Amino acid sequence: MKAPVRVTVTGAAGQIGYALLFRIASGAMLGDDQPVILHLLDITPAMDALEGVRMELDDCAFPLLAGIVCTDDPNVGFKDADYALLVGARPRGPGMERKDLLEANAAIFSVQGKAINDHASHDIRVLVVGNPANTNALITQRNAPDIDPRNFTAMMRLDHNRAKTQIAQKLDAPVTAVSTMTVWGNHSATQYPDLHHATVNGSVAVDAVDQQWYEDDFIPTVQQRGAAIIKARGAASAASAANAAIDHMRDWALGTADGDWVSMGVYSDGSYGIAEGLIYSFPCRCSGGDWSIVQGLEINDFSRGRMQATEQELTEERDAVADLLP
Ligand code: NAI
Repeated sequence: MKAPVRVTVTGAAGQIGYALLFRIASGAMLGDDQPVILHLLDITPAMDALEGVRMELDDCAFPLLAGIVCTDDPNVGFKDADYALLVGARPRGPGMERKDLLEANAAIFSVQGKAINDHASHDIRVLVVGNPANTNALITQRNAPDIDPRNFTAMMRLDHNRAKTQIAQKLDAPVTAVSTMTVWGNHSATQYPDLHHATVNGSVAVDAVDQQWYEDDFIPTVQQRGAAIIKARGAASAASAANAAIDHMRDWALGTADGDWVSMGVYSDGSYGIAEGLIYSFPCRCSGGDWSIVQGLEINDFSRGRMQATEQELTEERDAVADLLP
């Protein structure tokens, strides 16, 4: 049996946390031969609820669960962490403008970035789920200067999975028939789910549907799916978000399937003309615990416009918190 690794989850007493922790502890994220020590971080008023989650984790008697640390102190929460899933974030309150939301979260993620820098393993792999995820990931990364910026990622996998299912259902194909999906940009309504490189049963997806359905139905459905779930369920997506976080981390740690790729919000190296240093979603292949951006995809004018619009939004988000970035 391997030595245990430490996995930090913030916002561990929340909805996504509840759908996430039991699957990490069961081995769904890092494999069924990898013991884990869970570090559960939340804010002080959530400590009683967190204690209840700890009791339930204990009651599962998971063979791979080698320990649990519950804390409201980021320095303890990230101590020696090998993986971190940053789920806890400040939700938009009444009367809050976008800039207020960005700033409230900048405060949280700068503290966590510093704690990661000072206390976590320097090989830590970080996934930011809490919104605005891409910009929160940027803030975390900029506050952890001693760690490779490539180790900070933002979750686009829920959007990726949503896009796969939408095209599979449209073409009456199983979701397993869909490969090489790409969602570009920001985890927001400007994201661009791209069918030009995706295939369904080996055929190019965009050629199998009419352009009007692609533009007027597919793209907005994927972009607005989060809002549709809130409207239907009266609560934000939680189980599907937790599932996507597991998928993202598992592929990063254990590798993407041969011949396929996934969408990840990663540190831009300037690929496809996207400004360097933004946390932007690209098609990525993972192997040996590392990711690389898929190169050489042909980008037409339609796609280029959409990729730039979502890049523009990320630039504006970055500029809105510029004074808080080290
Ligand atoms: P929730 O409100 O149920 O839970 C959030 C938890 O975070 C709470 O327990 C809260 O006490 C905690 N928290 C707040 N500030 C914290 C801090 N400074 N340190 C540690 N913990 C803190 O929310 P839920 O449904 O679990 O969602 C969490 C986040 O994930 C939200 O920001 C949501 O918008 C985002 N999200 C992102 C998705 C994506 O695809 N990237 C998809 C779905 C949700």
